[in-house]
Amino acid sequence: MDIRNDGLYFGDVSAEDLIKEFESPLYVYEEDTIRARARELKNAITYDNKEIKFACKANTNIEIMKVLKEEGMGIDAVSPGEIFAALKAGFEKDHILFTTNNVLWDEIEYAVSNDIMANLDSLSQLKMFGREFPGRDICIRINPNVGAGHHNHVITGGPDSKFGINYTRVDDIKEITRKSGLRIKGIHQHIGSGILDPEIFIKAMGVLLDTAKNFEGLSFIDFGGGIGVPYQENEERMDIRVLGKRIADEFENFCGRYGRELKLVIEPGRYLVAESGFLLGTVASVKEGEKHRFIGINTGFNHLVRPAMYGSYHQILHAGKPYGARESQVIAGNLCESGDTFTRDEEGIVDRDLPHFKEGDIVCICNAGAYGYSMASYYNSRPRPAEVLVKGSRARLIRRRETFEDIFKSSLGIM
Ligand SMILES: Cc1ncc(COP(=O)(O)O)c(C=O)c1O
Repeated sequence: MDIRNDGLYFGDVSAEDLIKEFESPLYVYEEDTIRARARELKNAITYDNKEIKFACKANTNIEIMKVLKEEGMGIDAVSPGEIFAALKAGFEKDHILFTTNNVLWDEIEYAVSNDIMANLDSLSQLKMFGREFPGRDICIRINPNVGAGHHNHVITGGPDSKFGINYTRVDDIKEITRKSGLRIKGIHQHIGSGILDPEIFIKAMGVLLDTAKNFEGLSFIDFGGGIGVPYQENEERMDIRVLGKRIADEFENFCGRYGRELKLVIEPGRYLVAESGFLLGTVASVKEGEKHRFIGINTGFNHLVRPAMYGSYHQILHAGKPYGARESQVIAGNLCESGDTFTRDEEGIVDRDLPHFKEGDIVCICNAGAYGYSMASYYNSRPRPAEVLVKGSRARLIRRRETFEDIFKSSLGIM
């Protein structure tokens, strides 16, 4: 995104032109940013036998998944819906992994019937899988007792985490797989999301590698995702080349000790798409309140839940006058909840110094490409926005704006 005196540009297309053509609110993604992140990460990991699987929970727009497929990525899926999207996007079955936390048997059957490897999450699931599908290739999700992340909700390793089989249960895993003939081809972990300190990632990696040496027939080790991106304007970016080199070195050393070269897998979501995406909304009303100047816009946590859910910070820009005179303002959504504000922390609203907004102006919420649309809902019965992918001067509609019929079609006419 380019910030020019006369407004924001995505590729060569202005925010104003995008709203004129596709209306508001609108998700906008820049294809070049997605490709740049993918290439950066591929180059950073200086170990050849590797696969980067896009954790598509971050963004399941099929056109965006296709871009990442063109960049050579695979897919980490956590539901049959994500498997469905991955297959529609053209991913090959052996490049999709299905991570199976607390899923009912029909979901595992869906994956198996589509020839997609299951990444099993508990000893009981492992037993059941062994009974139903003896002799199959599987992956095992380990909880390394190390967790990290930008918020408690997204820490997925450690004693409070519902995910994976504790790394101390190696003997149980081996016993179950020996009896059922299951073949452990991969072991996996994902410790959390939004990690900006390479050391945490490397520490957890060490635990998984230590666990891996107990399993003889491995083909790959999957260290999960979690690589963070800066959300605050002055936040430092993790040096991806430093992380990539550390990961590669640790892995190469391990393979030496293991006696065989294995495939290194990571599965980032946020890192690949967060910075490519923007949510544009239009100022519907300005209210000079007792304490705050409220800028009310035509979108809310139904379209981007991260601020309301985690107190997450998203940079906000004036899409028409980015360098306009600034004043203290609160950007609020249009949902019937007082928590529906975009300038906030976990406790509540926070005033922010932003260019003066008036009715009709376009507000741009940055870093919305990951866990934005994919976490959107129909709350207050508002349809979800359209999504547009920009490359150069071309803006392509990649998901149409929804209608009331989309919201209600599954209940209309069935009673
Ligand atoms: C199993 C698994 N892998 C990968 C990811 C991707 O995390 P991130 O988007 O932080 O890279 C997640 C996110 O929750 C996950 O649960």
